[in-house]
Amino acid sequence: MDAKQIAAYKAVEYVKDGMVLGLGSGSTAIFAIQAIGERVKNEGLRVRGIPTSAKSRDLAMQLGIPLIDFGDTAQIDLTIDGADEVSGKLDLIKGGGGALLREKIVAASSDQLLIICDEGKLCKSLGKFPLPIAIVPFGWQITKSALDAFCVTNLRKSLTEPDKPFITDDNLLILDMHIEHVPDAVADFEEELKRRIGVVEVGLFVGMATRVIVGYTDGHTTELIPDMS
Ligand code: A5P
Repeated sequence: MDAKQIAAYKAVEYVKDGMVLGLGSGSTAIFAIQAIGERVKNEGLRVRGIPTSAKSRDLAMQLGIPLIDFGDTAQIDLTIDGADEVSGKLDLIKGGGGALLREKIVAASSDQLLIICDEGKLCKSLGKFPLPIAIVPFGWQITKSALDAFCVTNLRKSLTEPDKPFITDDNLLILDMHIEHVPDAVADFEEELKRRIGVVEVGLFVGMATRVIVGYTDGHTTELIPDMS
């Protein structure tokens, strides 16, 4: 069994009738959207979703999940999303698929942020996975130089046209920072990066996850919640 799918189906058990849902992005979140779609179809579950990417929006529409936007509500009950790395403190790196800006807006507006992953995403400290940073295209070279002063970054390339840059749903570029080890003061580091001119958002999600569900190929799941002590 696919560990990501197992985590996703477990997460969708937390979805209740009437909820406004944040719909995440990436291969794990896709399983969750599919599971929500099945419940809408089979149980008549009534939910409304706010997708974090064009891809997730298109899938949700295909599956008949009603969609709304922040013009309709400022508050999301529950968001289910994937992550690229999950630290022992449940801080995250996200944005491997480039959707970090919308994902962070949705996460910040959610009562609960449920992260789903396989155990390969768990780590002691963040940074092995290159840290995605969304920047504005104008003067991107200036922003890159400012960020390279911290640590070397690469301009992400389009998967389909490798001689062109990757462009996000919001027409931004992505720099991937090869930090290897994010400083322990993660929130301070995030703020430091965000102060650089041209930076729109950083793929560090600090103190945002309210629960992490880890799926395993034998079908079981484990759940992690933040240590409040
Ligand atoms: C999308 O931009 C990301 O934040 C994803 O949530 C993250 O990359 C996890 O993706 P997978 O579920 O495909 O591993």
